[in-house]
Amino acid sequence: MVKLIASLMLLAVVAQAYGDFKSKPESKSVLRELKNEASRQNQNQNPNRNEKKNHNHGEGQDQGCKGSLEVPEIPKGWIDMNQKCINKMRHQIQEEINASYQYLAMGAYFARDTVNRPGFAEHFFTAAKEEREHGSKLIEYLSMRGQLTDSITNLITVPTVAKQEWNNGAAALEEALELETKVTRSIRDVIKTCEGSKDNDYHLVDYLTGVYLEEQLHGQRDLAGKLTTLKKMLSTHGELGEFLFDKNL
Ligand SMILES: *[C@@H]1O[C@H](CO)[C@@H](O)[C@H](O)[C@H]1NC(C)=O
Ligand SMILES: [Fe+2]
Repeated sequence: MVKLIASLMLLAVVAQAYGDFKSKPESKSVLRELKNEASRQNQNQNPNRNEKKNHNHGEGQDQGCKGSLEVPEIPKGWIDMNQKCINKMRHQIQEEINASYQYLAMGAYFARDTVNRPGFAEHFFTAAKEEREHGSKLIEYLSMRGQLTDSITNLITVPTVAKQEWNNGAAALEEALELETKVTRSIRDVIKTCEGSKDNDYHLVDYLTGVYLEEQLHGQRDLAGKLTTLKKMLSTHGELGEFLFDKNL
């Protein structure tokens, strides 16, 4: 019996050693891959990279997934966005994604069976979808302008949502209004950076002003109106006021 256990243990040790031996080359290549990824990220983070390198598709064969054919050389003059403006746009994409997650958390809170405010839940789930779409449209815009050539590693990070409970519907609407005000300021900031006497990006500034700011301002007014009505109903009817308001949302 003792002999049997001893030989089993020996077998296990040998098997493990063999496993280590086998997995070594693999873990090395994983390490190499991680290093490559890290150096790629460093390249992407360098805001001073020049435009030419930025758009030389033929280089960097190690990046994979680009197909086996070399990307042909074509004129690059049409790719003319200012780097500071691009950076602000990338920041704005993350801003929209963050807002989307915040609204998703609000929707989930009001959808809880113990909270049960279906009107609020749907309102915030819809807002989450819209914010996600705003982010997606800005990504498409960068692509349209030829500015989405390199790796997208640093374009989006999944945010952690700090707040997950609200005292009542009014508190959530108030926070939504503050969130929208922050997003509006951030869009204004992109516009300010992207306009200017020399590098005025007329098209982007027009798009952000006409589409994004337009929606922001109407959205803010809508939230402000809803908040006023709800607060009036709360002050006269308390919980019943919120119940009725939710039905009508
Ligand atoms: C998005 O949210 C994260 C928290 O998860 C935060 O660190 C980051 O600064 C936010 N980004 C923007 C652009 O608001
Ligand atoms: Fe938005």
